[in-house]
Amino acid sequence: MAADPRFVAWAAGLEDHLDRVLPPADAAPQRLHQAMRHAVLEGGKRMRALLVYASGTLIGADEADLHAPAVAVELIHAYSLVHDDLPAMDDDDLRRGKPTVHIAFDEATAILAGDALQTRAFEVLASAPAPAARRVDWLATLAQASGAAGMCGGQALDIDATGAVQALDALERMHALKTGALIRASVRMGALAGTVGPDTLAHLDAFATALGLAFQVRDDILDIEASSEQLGKTAGKDQAQAKSTYPALLGMDGAKAKLEELAATMQAALAPYDARADALRALGELTVRRAH
Ligand code: IPE
Ligand code: IPE
Ligand code: MG
Ligand code: MG
Ligand code: MG
Repeated sequence: MAADPRFVAWAAGLEDHLDRVLPPADAAPQRLHQAMRHAVLEGGKRMRALLVYASGTLIGADEADLHAPAVAVELIHAYSLVHDDLPAMDDDDLRRGKPTVHIAFDEATAILAGDALQTRAFEVLASAPAPAARRVDWLATLAQASGAAGMCGGQALDIDATGAVQALDALERMHALKTGALIRASVRMGALAGTVGPDTLAHLDAFATALGLAFQVRDDILDIEASSEQLGKTAGKDQAQAKSTYPALLGMDGAKAKLEELAATMQAALAPYDARADALRALGELTVRRAH
């Protein structure tokens, strides 16, 4: 399936919105502001934002109502990468083809930039042009997916498992939290921008759960198979740091078989929907086949 032509327009619009919600580089404290902009702008596949737009499109939401959750989830994601790259975590010096924030600036600035990106995300949602009940649902969804029951919890499990061999169910749980939670939140926030029933929310969540897991399985495969130039981040890190990954546990063939299984799960979850689900279908395909 070819990439949906709407993706380019959505990503371009998002870039403008991100630029606008970030503090100006020439205002004090300049170093913090510059680090925040370095972390967010000009880079990234914007997969989570695209999921917000694609999911909102499926339920017939107005595109204008989707910018706030799309921006918010990308701010949280960018913060998670800044902290993931810190010396105390994965200790990476390359991200999105640029030096990581703690290399381009310094460690204290990277910690603060991550903190400030996170809080800005919630500010954006709180002040979105949307009914109060929807804003509360968005805030709760994103907060839960970001915290101990979501991304941060998954990162903690990742650190605990480094250097150890995990059982498959524990590995899957770690992936579901560290990467899956924000991806599920993206799809849910898009759907919450319109009128949506419990059945649709359940189908979308089944799709997003499979996509979230597939996203990290693919990330783990690319860490082995792709180059740093292709990825814009250091390849081969997982093995060098003895990370617990699908290829490490199941072998490369096992990891690839898992991806195919997840692709089938994604298709089945969207089977009840017509062409309105095509953007989501294309994002599922992209996740499984992506080369960076
Ligand atoms: C990288 O995410 C971190 C993971 C959760 C695997 P992405 O591959 O979406 O990173 P960007 O946003 O495109 O840089
Ligand atoms: C990161 O997983 C997940 C996050 C919550 C940021 P990785 O550590 O595998 O991500 P990369 O490979 O550095 O992008
Ligand atoms: Mg990591
Ligand atoms: Mg990392
Ligand atoms: Mg990785």
